[in-house]
Amino acid sequence: MTTAGPPATIHFVGAGPGDPQLLTLKGRALIEQADVIVFADSLVDARVCEFARPDADIHGSSSLTLEQTLELMLSAAREGKRVVRLQSGDPSIYGAINEQIAILEREGVPYEIVPGVSSAFAAAARLGVEMTVPNVSQTVILTRRSGRASAVPALEELRTLAAHQASMAIFLSAAMMGKVVRDLVSAGYPATTPCAVVYKVSWPDEKIVRGTLADIGRKVRAARFTRQAIILVGAAFGERSDERSRLYAPDYVHLFRSSG
Ligand SMILES: C[S@@+](CC[C@H](N)C(=O)[O-])C[C@H]1O[C@@H](n2cnc3c(N)ncnc32)[C@H](O)[C@@H]1O
Repeated sequence: MTTAGPPATIHFVGAGPGDPQLLTLKGRALIEQADVIVFADSLVDARVCEFARPDADIHGSSSLTLEQTLELMLSAAREGKRVVRLQSGDPSIYGAINEQIAILEREGVPYEIVPGVSSAFAAAARLGVEMTVPNVSQTVILTRRSGRASAVPALEELRTLAAHQASMAIFLSAAMMGKVVRDLVSAGYPATTPCAVVYKVSWPDEKIVRGTLADIGRKVRAARFTRQAIILVGAAFGERSDERSRLYAPDYVHLFRSSG
């Protein structure tokens, strides 16, 4: 069935890392109103769908091809139904939304992206750290190690990025922990660099392994993390530094605070 009116907007909603309390208010409202929800059931905690109406049509996307997923969303939007595409974490990070949006644009179907809490930031929060400690690291690199199907550009190989020794959040790579460590150390991170791997951050079965590049490979192998784990590495994840941001120094005068 196709309505006479224009198609409804398809909403890509960041579901956050797992805990439904980490949804944005806007994301939750869209889930509550949705007629059709397509969610990445291999990564999104099903508890997030508990906000949906009892009569909402809910589909897991793990068993669908891109074409099937798009067909489902497009036909519902053309019937004027409210469609939510639930993505894990933040949709803009490894969410494969680019290819979905390209088809929506070609088909003239409007869309909106609602950001979510990425697992990188949920993991940093869980560890109780700031990723950008003054004079320790002022840069965060979100990346993955190249693998069989990862299409990482040559200039973004982990070894190249590691030369900066910045704070790094490495996605989709826990199953290659040995190779990740080898790349980081061969590029110059000292073996004493703090590293933590967080499995299913904010899920009820969350697990955290902490160590240094010297021992994290062995610890992650022992914990048997392969998927749904994020690697955080860099000096900022170690012992708390005494460094302070200049922003709050008494002698630092700016627009919102005068001296004295
Ligand atoms: C396809 S990517 C999606 C990333 C997601 N868009 C985000 O912003 O977190 C999947 C990878 O993200 C990380 N990831 C996603 N959810 C996670 C969670 N709850 N805990 C730990 N890592 C997670 C893992 O590295 C996993 O292999």
